[in-house]
Amino acid sequence: MITDFPTAPLDPPGPADREADLAALGGPAMIGREVRRTPFPVITKEDVLHMLLSLRQDPAKTVDAFAESYRDYVGAAFALPTASGTASLHMALVGAGVEPGDEVVVPAFTFIATAQAVVAAHAVPVFVDIDPRTYCMDPAAAAAAVTDRTRAVMPVHVHGLPADMPALRRLCDERGLALVEDASHAHSARIGDHTAGSIGDTAGQSLMADKNFPLGGEGGIAFFASAEAHARAVDYLARHGIDYRMAPIAAAFGASQLERLPYYDRVRARNAAVLGDALRQTGLFEPPHVPEGHVHAYNMYRIGLRPERIGLDDLPVHAVKQAVHELLVAEGVPAREWQNTPIPCHLPFRHRDGFGGGYPFSLNPGAVRDHRPEDFPNTLAMLESTLVLCRELRSPVEYERVLRYGEAFAKVAARPDAIRKLAAGGDCPPPHRRAARLG
Ligand SMILES: Cc1ncc(COP(=O)(O)O)c(C=O)c1O
Repeated sequence: MITDFPTAPLDPPGPADREADLAALGGPAMIGREVRRTPFPVITKEDVLHMLLSLRQDPAKTVDAFAESYRDYVGAAFALPTASGTASLHMALVGAGVEPGDEVVVPAFTFIATAQAVVAAHAVPVFVDIDPRTYCMDPAAAAAAVTDRTRAVMPVHVHGLPADMPALRRLCDERGLALVEDASHAHSARIGDHTAGSIGDTAGQSLMADKNFPLGGEGGIAFFASAEAHARAVDYLARHGIDYRMAPIAAAFGASQLERLPYYDRVRARNAAVLGDALRQTGLFEPPHVPEGHVHAYNMYRIGLRPERIGLDDLPVHAVKQAVHELLVAEGVPAREWQNTPIPCHLPFRHRDGFGGGYPFSLNPGAVRDHRPEDFPNTLAMLESTLVLCRELRSPVEYERVLRYGEAFAKVAARPDAIRKLAAGGDCPPPHRRAARLG
């Protein structure tokens, strides 16, 4: 039987942990194998009861009740619960008035579903580079990509940090475009008092298992600022006979999880702050940048590398990253890449088969580009010089674990000799030269 109950307690790190040799060189791992699991979501007996009892209720009532309470939490005017995040983004685009053949500006760095939702709406994604500090859509790049056929701009709140919505709002207002949020990483993220999902004209949000607010397996929700946009999406589903409905059992789970979302958000924010302080002291590592007034939801925590600060700037940064990655994993810190090439370089956008016969790309050949990774230099630089923590910091993990992560980063940063040896010795192509990977 799989149990979430911890098999061993995690002690806070002590001086001996810091002085020990690197785990990759035979020392003890900072996080032992027996304590590496970070189960999430937490499932209480109330969650279980609520889900079981919901099976006796009118399914539509269960889903509507969840959607209404989460809509209220987000502060959006209208909501449409869906079976997945991709479906919610499709509905957000339809609600925003996107028509077949229209262009929608999307970031080159996101999950592929952002761009595939544009294709699902029979429109053409136009990819732009990211801001080098926030990793979200660069508003200047978005402005440069607007043409007469652009209908919407769809930023992604990457990893949980809201994109520069004020700048994108100005762009959309000036050019008469709809602003559509992909808020899939950004549950409870905010700019000032405005929660992600309620800032654009419409929004889509995934509620699948890897998100900060997971409804069990799959789920999503679209938000709309106007009754017209909401009606357009609802009418589209009815007219086309498309069933994108959320499963009632997922909605029931969501309703009881929602009560604890603010608690998880606070634990995540605390953990991110503690780890950020630890990383700043290492020299080599940098925590995520959060602009003033933005609240990051930390669905993922992207860590920058600054090899020049520990005398490793003669090595390619991606080689340093790969070496550090190996050393961290040996310490029990499951750091990852999460993507290794810009989204337009993945097969669906290189081949552009779409729905067959090149549709919908064939509706607007002028918007179609044969992209190379080098077309997105900020995305490439980020992929080469950063690592990500995902579930390990997303779950409400113990304070001791976060302290141990911090110590593991410090232990690795204190060994430029070991990093150099690994980085100089191995075969290490830049991330985008390897086969394209999602996640
Ligand atoms: C940024 C982003 N957008 C959209 C999606 C699509 O959501 P789903 O998998 O629920 O369809 C995801 C999901 O993983 C995502 O990370």
